[in-house]
Amino acid sequence: MSARAAGPGGDPSDIARRAEELRREIAHHNVLYHQLDEPEISDADYDQLVRQLRQIEADHPELVDISSPTQTVGAAPSPLFPPVQHRVPMMSLDNAFSIEELEAWVKRMDRFISGEVAYVCELKIDGVAISLLYENGELVRAATRGDGRVGEDVTANVATIDAVPKRLTVSSPPAEVEVRGEVYMPVPSFEELNRRQGEAGGRLFANPRNSAAGSLRQKDPKVTAERDLSVWAYEMVTVAGTAGAPARSYHHETLDYLRRAGLPVNPQITVLTSIDAVHDFCRHWEAHRHDLDYEIDGVVVKVDSLAQREELGHTSKAPRWAIAYKFPPEERTTLLRGIMVSIGKSGKATPFAQLEPVFVGGSTVGLATLHNEDQVRLKDVRPGDTVVVRKAGDVIPEVVGPVLSLRPKGLRPWRFPANCPSCGGPLVRLEGESDTFCTNLDCPGQRVQRVAHFGSRGAMDIEGLGEQTVIQLVNQGLVGDVGDIYALGADQLLGLEGFATTSVNNLLSAIEASKSRPLANLLVGLSIRHLGGAGSALLARALGHLDAILAAGPEEMEAVEGIGPTIARSVHEFFASERNRAVIDKLRTAGVNFAGPAAPEAPQVLAGKSIVVTGTLEGWSREQAEEAIISRGGKSPGSVSKSTTAVVVGTSPGAAKLTKAEQLGVPVVDEAAFARLLETGELP
Ligand code: IVH
Repeated sequence: MSARAAGPGGDPSDIARRAEELRREIAHHNVLYHQLDEPEISDADYDQLVRQLRQIEADHPELVDISSPTQTVGAAPSPLFPPVQHRVPMMSLDNAFSIEELEAWVKRMDRFISGEVAYVCELKIDGVAISLLYENGELVRAATRGDGRVGEDVTANVATIDAVPKRLTVSSPPAEVEVRGEVYMPVPSFEELNRRQGEAGGRLFANPRNSAAGSLRQKDPKVTAERDLSVWAYEMVTVAGTAGAPARSYHHETLDYLRRAGLPVNPQITVLTSIDAVHDFCRHWEAHRHDLDYEIDGVVVKVDSLAQREELGHTSKAPRWAIAYKFPPEERTTLLRGIMVSIGKSGKATPFAQLEPVFVGGSTVGLATLHNEDQVRLKDVRPGDTVVVRKAGDVIPEVVGPVLSLRPKGLRPWRFPANCPSCGGPLVRLEGESDTFCTNLDCPGQRVQRVAHFGSRGAMDIEGLGEQTVIQLVNQGLVGDVGDIYALGADQLLGLEGFATTSVNNLLSAIEASKSRPLANLLVGLSIRHLGGAGSALLARALGHLDAILAAGPEEMEAVEGIGPTIARSVHEFFASERNRAVIDKLRTAGVNFAGPAAPEAPQVLAGKSIVVTGTLEGWSREQAEEAIISRGGKSPGSVSKSTTAVVVGTSPGAAKLTKAEQLGVPVVDEAAFARLLETGELP
């Protein structure tokens, strides 16, 4: 998508043409998003188009046209549903993308109102706007927003949503009241729905919003009934003079009334009196958005006083008394330039996407893993496609899928290469396995990865032995396996690019220091398939010496609690290989520590406890955290269950784990509490 800016000084006919082009483009995306529930660009890319058009219209007011998408809301309702004329238009909201834009909104309001302003901060639910009409307390009609004036009658479908009360629970309900809110689908339900749809060969939804919109706008209400939809109510419209209408002067009173009437009102809503506090609220939810089991894309800030709202009024599209603070995008569309294959330490060939760099979820993404051959086939992404890139709960960017409507003609499906890009040897995929491997143990690509992994933080922690250095060492034939690291001398290192006396000495002392790392670190560093930090810690603790592990049969290892048959077999096979034995001999000759846990045994404060870690911790790598738990007698499984003692959360935790913890009532604690847990075994 081009981000052409049309400054005030450009050629007038070019600018008018660009405005027209943008209007057409935006109108096209409005239909895809609002009518078909099948957007082909991300929300952030859409917002960018609207901002470009708005800028042109601000610089050239003569170009503003009443039918411009900047002046209208949504898209025309679908003919599938009977039309509903909204008595009070369902408007949209203006957006703010920064604290400055939030402050500018407050300034704009100063022209219309005076005195103190209190703000109600609400989460901006990423769902579908709904209007619920109650007559004498009975739900009589539900309608979508449509184009803001005319919506779609979806009463039969909304009647299947349990969270929507069919009768208000107040004793004397008004003759008529219209409640507005957002229908949404919880993230776990969306994931489950897509899994079921995938199995049945049905349509997959790109995100929870689309699945909510698609489920709500079904012709057959029975289909809607099978979908887990819910609602948050956030506004109320009453016609003046309606008998029984609640007296209220503030929006927070409206919310209290809705709650009493039995409507779900979001519990996070807060009244704040300064814009700094509002900004803190926005930042808090920006950081914690994935702690919720539904999706939000910002915060809606509303003026609390209804009298002030009245004075502020609205523009043709949005009220002046509210603004949507939008979070930075987590999803963007970009060009897939190519698909390459990288070779890992165990020879695993992993396909990855080379993307036209795009700013998403707070950083620029140029590469993203595609995991394995089946994933590429399932997603059917092809070089040349426009793809959706997402960075959500996890920091790792993901290619969601192609935008099929933008696929150029003649793009061929991607085929997994037959040969290793590093050594040219054959790539092999075994029956029943999803991964493909380069089986050539002499493959330079594999060697580099194994040696670099050996020196990494969770393993032997050799500072200065980064991938670029290792590539040079392997290419020059100085290092073939991890045992060769200990035979390196100053003369050889001085010949490397970027190395001088000080850096050589530093690297040599780091190599020397690594000889005394605990056995568990050595095991991690050997790149044994299936054996991670937790398994290494268990084996080191149980068998106490590398020689005992070398001598052990798979049964002996399997007898260690936490070691399954796959790990046991893999470790046994690793040490049975002559080639690997030769590496061990080199390490032994160099004087590398083979003995069990070097640290004195930690008090077993976590005996019988099971601690799940999710997200990135500041003070511990994932392996170190697992090791710390296990060395204190605890377990650290990869998923949350009834028997989990606590879930430790770092930055960018997994939403599924948090949701599960919430459902099961498992305590969720931060890093400080984790430190205490390790020390005392107690939760704060
Ligand atoms: S108030 C007159 N409150 O965001 C505006 N809207 O981008 C009334 N939305 O059309 C809307 N959460 O569909 C309001 N807490 C919230 C909301 C919310 C989500 C949606 C709503 C609106 C859209 C504007």
